[in-house]
Amino acid sequence: MQLFKGNILSYHNDPGDKELASSYSYFENGILAVENGKIVYCGDQENLPFDASDHELHAYPDQLIIAGFVDTHIHYPQIGMIASYGEQLLEWLDRYAFPAEMKYSDKAYAKMMAKEFTDELFRNGTTTALVFSTVHEQSAEALFEEALSRKMCLLTGKVLMDRNAPDDLRDTPERAYEESKRLIEKWHGKDRLRYAVTPRFAITSSPEQLDAAGRLLKEFPDVYLQTHLSENKNEIAAVADLFPDSKGYLDVYDSHGLAGKRSVFAHCVHLTDDEFALMKKRDSAISFCPCSNLFLGSGLFDIEKATQHGIKMGLGTDVGGGNSFSVLQNLNEAYKVAQLRDQKLNPLRAFYLATLGGARALSLENEIGSLKKGNYADFTILNPCATPLMKLRMERAESLTDTLFVLMMMGDDRCVSGTWIGGEKMA
Ligand code: GUN
Ligand code: ZN
Repeated sequence: MQLFKGNILSYHNDPGDKELASSYSYFENGILAVENGKIVYCGDQENLPFDASDHELHAYPDQLIIAGFVDTHIHYPQIGMIASYGEQLLEWLDRYAFPAEMKYSDKAYAKMMAKEFTDELFRNGTTTALVFSTVHEQSAEALFEEALSRKMCLLTGKVLMDRNAPDDLRDTPERAYEESKRLIEKWHGKDRLRYAVTPRFAITSSPEQLDAAGRLLKEFPDVYLQTHLSENKNEIAAVADLFPDSKGYLDVYDSHGLAGKRSVFAHCVHLTDDEFALMKKRDSAISFCPCSNLFLGSGLFDIEKATQHGIKMGLGTDVGGGNSFSVLQNLNEAYKVAQLRDQKLNPLRAFYLATLGGARALSLENEIGSLKKGNYADFTILNPCATPLMKLRMERAESLTDTLFVLMMMGDDRCVSGTWIGGEKMA
């Protein structure tokens, strides 16, 4: 057994606007005990159910121990073209994203980048991610192989796109079905891995291909679906042109059987009230991608409305549309997005979204997202005094919420003292 000592924060529920104290546990100088990769104790250092002196102790005084961050939307093939200048979504895809993705037909290149990608997740305290690969089957293979070797909980899928994309990045409805099926049978449920059927977005899939995606979800009811939804105004107009009979953007997916309990829709910046209601009815989840929505000029996500509708929600960095792997940096921008809408994102809720909120969005709350007994020992250690300025600011911090606020407004990878997966140190 290994013991970790620090200020431990673990959520049971969404603290909401009221910052409900019953939604989390906080143990100052608490103990997290890990055995065989799982959490066996999380609580006060007094009255331990075992003798602490018998076990290895990792002490992190004045640091925060929290469940590993869950990134509910990110593109691993876009790691190298992060921070590409000057375009909004559709032009940015043509100019930067598509050319970068073409390189992933080469399995050796994909493997090399998959390693860079997981390293960067861990450096930022992220332990689970729902990830876009590329249209190439081997790109998903490469990432699954890397994640398997790290024993991490990761979800990905080969991208489906059969129109409005360069020749080298297009498949067909038949290939989409066959290749996805092969990958599902090989990888879904292997160790901690899961498969997500991944139509890129409505613009790049024909109705026949969306049907094929729906068929996969019917045949394999516990696989996931990930896609983009209502991110950018020009995108929404193009979808309306391509699907003139649909009632709206979400309806395009829903009418092909793609909106369900295990569906995660990234962005959702411009949803109508009816679409929010349908999203709730289908029990689907939203991935809020603040860095990306600002970087690509897509718009201000309405977190208050999503909350009022009671929709499951997690955070997505959306690298390379997002310009940072850091979930802390994404919380920084999320706070400002709320400000610009005259809304508030309180720090307790922000860190909930980054952990248990994300786990719930992925229906994985009984494995990850909190430090409850029995969960995997996937956790992150955050130093709120990582820079001279943070140290200065922390002299004024008098509460947990204030410490969290300092971390989310000033913090980034410099604050990550350690990232552990299944009780093994990854960064
Ligand atoms: N919509 C379709 N593809 C993409 C992508 O790669 N990134 C983002 N942000 N939006 C998309
Ligand atoms: Zn994306």
